[in-house]
Amino acid sequence: MAVQLMVEDVPAVELAERFGTPLFAISENSIRERYRRTLAAVRAAYDPVEVYYAVKANPILAVRRILATEGAGGDAFGPGEVETSLRAGVPGDKLVMNGQAKTEEWLELAVRHGITVTLDNPGELDLLLEVAGRAQREDQGRAPAKAFIRLKLPMDEVRANVSPEGPQIADRVLTTVWGFTEDEAREAVTRALGAPDRLLLRGYHHHIGYFINRPDYHAATMRDLVGAVARLREATGFVPGVLDVGGGWAYPSDPESGDDQPHEIASPEEFAVVQLGALGAAFDAAGVPRPLVIFELGRSLVGESCVLLARVQWVKEQYGRRFVVTDAQKHLLLRACIEGYKYRWVRADDVDAPAAGAAELFGPTCTDDELALGYPFPAVARGDVVAALACGAYAQTFNASLNSMARPAVVLVNGKDAAAVVRRETVDDVLARYELPGWLR
Ligand SMILES: Cc1ncc(COP(=O)(O)O)c(C=O)c1O
Repeated sequence: MAVQLMVEDVPAVELAERFGTPLFAISENSIRERYRRTLAAVRAAYDPVEVYYAVKANPILAVRRILATEGAGGDAFGPGEVETSLRAGVPGDKLVMNGQAKTEEWLELAVRHGITVTLDNPGELDLLLEVAGRAQREDQGRAPAKAFIRLKLPMDEVRANVSPEGPQIADRVLTTVWGFTEDEAREAVTRALGAPDRLLLRGYHHHIGYFINRPDYHAATMRDLVGAVARLREATGFVPGVLDVGGGWAYPSDPESGDDQPHEIASPEEFAVVQLGALGAAFDAAGVPRPLVIFELGRSLVGESCVLLARVQWVKEQYGRRFVVTDAQKHLLLRACIEGYKYRWVRADDVDAPAAGAAELFGPTCTDDELALGYPFPAVARGDVVAALACGAYAQTFNASLNSMARPAVVLVNGKDAAAVVRRETVDDVLARYELPGWLR
């Protein structure tokens, strides 16, 4: 018997019928389960530890709200993500503001809400001290601003011990923009400790924007990190109370791997044991007291929770090729276009249907709108619903729209209930920000 694609208790085909296509459909309970499993895994491996949500991975208010009700603090890059998080009910003191180009207004916002600012460069430390001082003059008794220092390290452990990717990752880190060098951090720590009335330096932040399905890589980054923390303590006396270790964990069916067929992914338990085991051991070996560890996980919490549903418009057999034309454009999964993500596609009414040869899956726009090429795919006909799996991470963040097509709705499913959490765009929405200057009217 055919196995239907289900989003919790609702068949995906029914969602497509009811809400139209293209449509993103998110399972609420898969996010909750993933968060709880992750939290239990890290707590079993290290104490004390918290799991924050990196809202950039899926910025929809309902998703942020689900994780807020689970108690997850969060990372926010700028006022939009701060506002989303606050509206979702995340308290300011459980938020971290990241970014390499924070404006004075961003820093004021952070200070106003008690958000910890991840400092990205020495100049930003000066600016934060200025903003904090001004806020205190205006509001006597205001607590000092809170900060982390983000570190950019040469990653010697990763280079030497993660094979074969280590050297390439370590080289890449040096070309990324984020963070202080160890020398810069040493000077900044001393300055920050000299202004306790205006600034509370809570600890360090470290995130490498590099996806890899390898717990041993995360373990090596922890050894690099603790090495730097210990040297900085030696030089400044500063013992961090908190270490924010960023995100980067993998998840099942992850399109980032470039493998669109089912493949092995390390579990949250494996990531937790290997990464936090290395971290705890490194702190103990260095004689540095263990700080509170904060994760800022994005993709691994939400990636698997969502499918993109599309309806087959036409099937064309031409010159030995089968073209399946759908109504979902590839720009809805923009990272597939720009970063080589590969999504797994299935027929929604029969996920295990055997492939009837290769298909060229296309979207509706005027570019080479390839969703998947030469893809082993079952027989489909006009009107069938097909689905891309594991679209929960970074698809909402990056999606764009070509040919002035309205972007899809997003529905949230909880058991048998389904509700739109992002309404479908209208053509009026698409045109809403256009203006004509007087001379063209
Ligand atoms: C500062 C920071 N923290 C956390 C994350 C989340 O990373 P991921 O989605 O890989 O878990 C990112 C994303 O790159 C980030 O820039």
